[in-house]
Parts: sequence; C-alpha cells; structure tokens
Amino acid sequence: PTIHVITPTYTRAVQKAELTRLSNTLLHVPNLHWIVVEDSPRRTPLVSRLLRSSMIKYTHLNVETPRVHRMRREARGRRVPRGTVQRNLGLRWLRENLGNKARQQGVVYFADDDNTYSLELFEEMRSTQKVSVWPVAFVGGLRYESPKINSLGKVYGWSTVFDPHRPFAIDMAGFAINLQLILSKPQACFKLNGVKGGYQESSLLGELVTLSELEPKADNCTKVLVWHTRTERPLLVNEGKKGFTDFNVEI
Ligand code: UGA
Ligand code: MN
Repeated sequence: PTIHVITPTYTRAVQKAELTRLSNTLLHVPNLHWIVVEDSPRRTPLVSRLLRSSMIKYTHLNVETPRVHRMRREARGRRVPRGTVQRNLGLRWLRENLGNKARQQGVVYFADDDNTYSLELFEEMRSTQKVSVWPVAFVGGLRYESPKINSLGKVYGWSTVFDPHRPFAIDMAGFAINLQLILSKPQACFKLNGVKGGYQESSLLGELVTLSELEPKADNCTKVLVWHTRTERPLLVNEGKKGFTDFNVEI
C-alpha cells in the first residue's frame, strides 16, 4: 500500500528547516506520496522549490485558514484550529483523484511539519485495515499518551490526563486510516465549528470507526515511534527594523 502523508504547513522563519527535516525522513520511506498543503492564499516559491528538489512523490496544494475564523476565535481566547482546513483539503484531493480507482491500496497519515517520526512508524501503519493507533510522546503534559490495550489486544480507553473521556483521546500523530475507508465515507472530515480543543481528532475518527475496531500498532502500543516535538521560535532581534541580513537569501 502507498502511504499518503498529509502535511499542513505555513510561512514562518523555521518553515524551510522543518520541511527539510521532514523530507529527509520521508525520503527513506518506500511507496510514499506527500500531500503538502500550505496555509496561504497561494503556493509559495519556497515550498515549491523544496518539493521539486526533494525527490519525493508529492502533491502541492494550498488553502488559507479563513481570516474571520482566526480573528473570532482569538478574540474569545479560544485556540485556533491549526492545520484543520488544510488536512480537509488533503482528504478532498484523495477523494477527487483516487476515488474512482477501484481497490487502490493505501493508508492516510496526518504528519505535522514539526514532529519527529521514526522510520519504523511508517512500516507499522502500512498494514492498516481501518484505523491503526499507537502512543505519541510529549503530548497532554505526559512523557507519552497512549491507547489502553486489554489482554485481547483491543483498545478499551485512553491513558491520558487531559480529557480522557474524549471519544478518541489521541493526538493527530497517533493514528493512520485505510484509504478505502476514507473513500467510502466521503462526508467524513475534521469539523471546524463547535469543536472543543482536543476534539479535532474525534470529529473525524467518530465518523470512521468504533473504539473496538482500532488496530493497536507499535508492539501493542508499548513503543514510542513518534514525538510531538515543537520548534522554538528563533530570536531575530538583531535584525532590527530594517533587517540586518540580506533578505534575498532564503532561510
Ligand atoms: C497540536 C496537534 O498536535 C496538531 O495536530 C493540531 O493541529 C494542533 O495542536 C491544533 O489543533 O491547533 P501544535 O504543535 O500545537 O499541535 O500545532 P502546530 O504544530 O503549530 O500546527 C499543526 C500543523 O498545522 C503544523 O503542520 C503547522 O505547520 C500547521 N499550521 C499551523 C498551519 O497550517 N497554519 C497555522 O497557522 C499554524
Ligand atoms: Mn506541532
């Protein structure tokens, strides 16, 4: 099966560094299709060039997170749903472009541009029948969050402190979905409105599977193969107002 990796990304100082690191990882994964969705009004030259020179099979898309949405949410002190409309566009692309290719074997994974992914993770998810799950490190104030697995190897709950009663208390990096399941449920997507923090993942997964159908990977969820790392924003104070370095040099 082909692994379709959907990555939302946006312009900021570290973007090229993030995408370089992620592309260096993905280059080692056989049979992979990288769907990069920019949160921008148009596809940028920086990302276009990076993808072209990456040697990875890719699709380059863009959609800007609606401005109204951002403002209203921020004003009310609510968290902006990052990457949501971009992931939904990735899903739409799969449905529009692979929907009529009967029995196309594939797996869909949402990979943020700043996390750290082991190569083993991709081989674990490749056999996903419906939805596979595994632990993710550095989320929810824990060393790692994990699905709870019973003696029959079934998921029966979530080992999390932050809202463990969510239907699917799992980070975006903690699951993969069979492509046929995505294609057979054309209405399933991430909900933007009326979704509390931490319920993004549940809003999609709830349309696709039940808890008992989840397939634990990574040795029955006993291994950490992905880390929710976050990149420090670089201090560019010495650039000053006019800028010190040559702005024609891409970073
Ligand atoms: C956490 C989760 O791990 C994300 O999967 C989830 O999207 C996010 O919270 C959320 O719901 O807000 P976190 O590290 O806080 O992740 O978020 P980021 O890594 O900053 O953003 C997630 C993805 O969206 C990244 O790939 C990032 O490049 C992209 N993004 C972020 C945008 O496309 N636009 C933005 O304005 C911000
Ligand atoms: Mn992140």
